[in-house]
Amino acid sequence: MGINILAMGNYIPEQKLKNDDFTRFIETNDEWIRTRTGIVERPMAGWEPTWYMGMKAAEAAVKKSGINVKDIGLVISCTATSDFLTPSMASVIQHKIGAVNAGAFDLNAACTGFVYALDTARRFVQTDENMKYVLVVANESLSRFLDFNDRGSCILFGDGAAAAIIEKSDKMYSSALRSDGSGADLLCARSLNVAPEIRQDAPDDFTDNFPDMPLHKLFQNGKEVYKFATSALPKSFTLAAEKIGVTKDDIDWFIPHQANVRIIETAAKKLGVSMDKFIVTLDHFGNTSSASIPLALNEGIEKGLIKRGQKLALIGFGAGLTYGGIILEY
Ligand code: UT7
Repeated sequence: MGINILAMGNYIPEQKLKNDDFTRFIETNDEWIRTRTGIVERPMAGWEPTWYMGMKAAEAAVKKSGINVKDIGLVISCTATSDFLTPSMASVIQHKIGAVNAGAFDLNAACTGFVYALDTARRFVQTDENMKYVLVVANESLSRFLDFNDRGSCILFGDGAAAAIIEKSDKMYSSALRSDGSGADLLCARSLNVAPEIRQDAPDDFTDNFPDMPLHKLFQNGKEVYKFATSALPKSFTLAAEKIGVTKDDIDWFIPHQANVRIIETAAKKLGVSMDKFIVTLDHFGNTSSASIPLALNEGIEKGLIKRGQKLALIGFGAGLTYGGIILEY
């Protein structure tokens, strides 16, 4: 009941923000950022809209796969930083690449987005006889939602996109998706506001724990998210692994969400797995939200580290708070 990842592609904006660049507008330094996060530089979208990066990644994946783009039955874009509230990024990308026979929708599970989207795609190819290929695109422009006065968050994120084309296969597969919405206010960005004069009409039993903040600015409680992440990552693996009786020793590569190298190190320790089995791209990409797992996967494949037949564990966490894991054979 699994999938075959036929091909992947990516798009990385040329513009980079190095740690030292932040010293121009916040009190920080390269050493703090490197040692506390593992990040050295991160790509920043300039003129590129989110959909453009997704489209370029999708085109690269289609080209590599050798498939006819008209055989794509569905485009799923996972993004937390859509250019529009509507239309979906998926519809824009579907049109731009010429996937004229595909449906299209966006899926927002924040940084866990690719895990959710890949698992959703798997369910389509497994249950629809006519669905030959699904294109999953992770495209993110976190930089447009950052508060560049907040040194605890603005140094973490980068922009970019990665895409995968999948088809049905009988390869090993397991997944587990979870959410703990009690932590929804720990990592959020507001897209709409209720006008103050209308807000006062709210009934007494209405509560809104979300912090007051300007629209389209990311807020995070870094310490709490850190704590959550260090248990969510190992749990994401365990939940998916237990379903099919797989253990850490069966896994060739762990591809975690890239938020902070210390989070990954702690997760590796908790799982009892050497860091050598983890793909880490934080130094050059930073945290690209839902694009971080597929960018790391694609990089591992391109570097020749990840080989056909190997067993992979994709484990993520993010706003929501969401988390989840997929175990699959590449
Ligand atoms: O996709 C999920 C997205 N978010 C995350 O995954 C965030 C998870 N959290 C983290 O990665 C870490 O909590 C941070 C990197 C955000 C912060 O690291 P930390 O080790 O938890 O630092 P801290 O918040 O405990 O702050 C320690 C000190 C503070 O100074 P004082 O109060 O001790 O004087 C901060 O003000 O470091 C200060 N600090 C900085 N100093 C230099 C915070 N940010 C910076 C900075 N440069 N950029």
